[in-house]
Amino acid sequence: MFPLNNGNLKIAVQKKGRLTEKSIELLNLCGLGIDNYTDRLYISATSFPADILFLRDDDIPEYVQDGVADLGIVGENVITEKPVTIDLKEKLGFGKCRIMIAYPDSVQIDDVSGLAGKKIATTYPSILGKFLSKNDIEARIIEISGSVEIAPALGIADVICDIVSTGNTLKLNKLKRGFTVFESEAALIASPALRDNPVKEQLVSDLLKRIKSVITARKSKYLMMNVPKASLQEVIGMIPASKSPTILPLFDESTVAVHAVVPSGYIWEVLDPLKNAGATGILVLPIENMIP
Ligand code: PRP
Ligand code: ZN
Repeated sequence: MFPLNNGNLKIAVQKKGRLTEKSIELLNLCGLGIDNYTDRLYISATSFPADILFLRDDDIPEYVQDGVADLGIVGENVITEKPVTIDLKEKLGFGKCRIMIAYPDSVQIDDVSGLAGKKIATTYPSILGKFLSKNDIEARIIEISGSVEIAPALGIADVICDIVSTGNTLKLNKLKRGFTVFESEAALIASPALRDNPVKEQLVSDLLKRIKSVITARKSKYLMMNVPKASLQEVIGMIPASKSPTILPLFDESTVAVHAVVPSGYIWEVLDPLKNAGATGILVLPIENMIP
């Protein structure tokens, strides 16, 4: 039997790029068990009936639409550029990036109207085309399939329109950021063909539950600290209302330990007030899963 024809859930992930490592990390936090995947075209998870397919990100939406893959992890930029029939299950909170206009120092563009009459190289002709017509701008779109950043240096375009994440690629190619055309993050997409396969649908709903718990956990931290009993009420007043903190006695009877789940950025806002209220031994720990 062909090894992929085994009833396992097929999950398509970007073969090599911005999303690869974080996609695998998410699936592993969901308990799938994916090891030694470098340079593999597919690999079976050890702890979940799933096979991971490593594909070019631009091909993933179509594979998912056609049911070759049951699920895919791909940027919203890719799904939006090539309209396909898929179910968008969940935005994943990583792989955040922008499709931006960028140009060499020799070009000066102050606002969108400065694009009029320009030649713009991009791998996103559809997203760019909609942006231009929404802003009533006539420009020439030069569609190319990769290495867009080199187009101005080659003289085939004045400006480019491409993904910017860290900005390193722009810097390497001596281009500066212009304005944002589209904002994107990684998303989990599902094949419409799953609706006819209750066994796989059950696996998807199990996996989705795990993914949601990982995403929720990432937005929170576990805060632990020691607080003098005398200022306990004051400190509790600083903890977001919906979270009921745990209070534990300590050997030193004048002090208690306070534990609470708090939003990720919270601690930096209240660090000084907490210290002023006498809190000591403040620890902020990551949470791996949060089950509702
Ligand atoms: C994008 C884009 C750039 C890079 C920018 O590639 O094409 O090469 O990311 O990232 P940076 O600002 O962090 O340098 P992507 O991974 O989306 O896939 P692609 O190679 O298919 O375009
Ligand atoms: Zn791509």
